[in-house]
Amino acid sequence: MLTEADAMASIERSDPAILGHLLAEHRELFQQLSNLRAALATESPPGCDRVREVVSAIGGLRSHLADHFHQEETGGFLEESVARMPRLGAAATEVLGQHPQLLADLDALVARFGDARTAPCAEEWRGVRGAFEAFMARMQAHERAENAVVQQGYNEDLGIDD
Ligand SMILES: [Fe+2]
Ligand SMILES: [Fe+2]
Repeated sequence: MLTEADAMASIERSDPAILGHLLAEHRELFQQLSNLRAALATESPPGCDRVREVVSAIGGLRSHLADHFHQEETGGFLEESVARMPRLGAAATEVLGQHPQLLADLDALVARFGDARTAPCAEEWRGVRGAFEAFMARMQAHERAENAVVQQGYNEDLGIDD
């Protein structure tokens, strides 16, 4: 039976202001990804320290992402979208199902390059750059698909185009 508290929770979950928070998170994540990509776009530094530093920053991003994914999985936005528009069910299942692989991609990157110590590390630097670029493309496709589900479910223009 639906209690009044359930009904209230459902109303709160569907509040566009809370959705705005999700989208603000997406913008912030995109900024972090862009900063890392910009750092990696520079020429390879002479030693291995910078490789370990940037991989450590990518490890930080990984834990931020894990929190973000957890919020999405428990926050109810996607379920609410599907409740409002059942045809979004398959797309919602697909985006949520991408979370473990995205985290595994970063884990693999960190495991492969996090302990680079044999100078020169130019090859490792390029390796991190290539792996990160590939990750970023998958991540952006993921976020776009996720935004599309939420935007259609709530039938609102949430200023998602950036
Ligand atoms: Fe997600
Ligand atoms: Fe997301």
